[in-house]
Amino acid sequence: MKIGILTSGGDCPGLNAVIRGIVLKGDKVYEHTFLGIRDGYRGLVEDDIFTLPRKQVRGLSKQGGTILGTSRTGPYGEGNGGAERVREVMDKHEMDGFIAIGGEGTLTVARMLHEEGVPVIGVPKTIDNDLSATDVTFGFETAVAIATESIDRLRTTAESHHRCMVVEVMGRDAGWIALNAGIASGAHAILIPEVPVTIEQVTGWVQATVNRGRAPVVVAAEGFRLAGEDVSAKHGVDHMGRPRFGGIAEQLTPIIEERTGIETRSMTLGHLQRGGVPTSYDRVLATRFGTAAIDAVHRKEWGTMVALKGTDIVSVELAEATSEIKSVPRERWDEAAILFG
Ligand code: F6P
Repeated sequence: MKIGILTSGGDCPGLNAVIRGIVLKGDKVYEHTFLGIRDGYRGLVEDDIFTLPRKQVRGLSKQGGTILGTSRTGPYGEGNGGAERVREVMDKHEMDGFIAIGGEGTLTVARMLHEEGVPVIGVPKTIDNDLSATDVTFGFETAVAIATESIDRLRTTAESHHRCMVVEVMGRDAGWIALNAGIASGAHAILIPEVPVTIEQVTGWVQATVNRGRAPVVVAAEGFRLAGEDVSAKHGVDHMGRPRFGGIAEQLTPIIEERTGIETRSMTLGHLQRGGVPTSYDRVLATRFGTAAIDAVHRKEWGTMVALKGTDIVSVELAEATSEIKSVPRERWDEAAILFG
């Protein structure tokens, strides 16, 4: 078979390890050949496709980013031709099917294409870890490790200067990075999109920390909003029409300083969390996803996605994979909140 591979949506540590896993097993075990599709669905729409031989994926598992490039362009965007255009380009290259590596947006498009008869298999990717059909997505562990190390470093400055530090991490709809990095670094407050809290609660935790002689560290997910207050980041929308986030820490900082009198600074970690080499855990998970995806292709399980359940890699329907976001359960935040302040 001749199989296309694309990476779409935000980049993520481990994407290259998935690509390597697919190509190595596909070449060695099944003798399939591979086509790289440049910049996600853009490459399928604009016919930007190249041969991807085994030698091109050598040594890739530790490399950050994606050798295929990525974009947030979709085939269902205006004038992009939808499934018909995708089929036309696939036919031109005699592509039997393709593997789409991406997050919720990418996998939703894959599901829609599959519903129109396009042979596609999904691999779940997002540092946000918010896909409900898989226990974990690769990239998440790396992002948490980067965020934790960054918060540890910021804390030494906060302690030395007796300041409050508000650190913003990624997490559009789900606060998994904030929760895990916050617990790991011993944050005094963790603010996530799933749990609205008031400014009085935030300043209460900050003040309690200062009263104990410590420098408060507040970790906020980019998607967090204060209960009942219009403190929102407004940076326009991306190619998929989703609001661009970033800025909640900067907006909270003067409010905390004004209400508590404590010098407060902010730091938005942003894309730092998505860059650089994946952790060994993410390299292993991504490689396993890649080899499982080519097995699924070989079995012609079109319309499915590989997923981690416990310690096993399984196949789930794309429809199931895109039906709901995996939010942080309230009890997980409550568990952490016992230690706030
Ligand atoms: O979906 C992963 C993610 O990193 C989100 O946490 C974040 O809101 C978004 O991507 C940012 O995407 P971009 O780099 O396109 O602005």
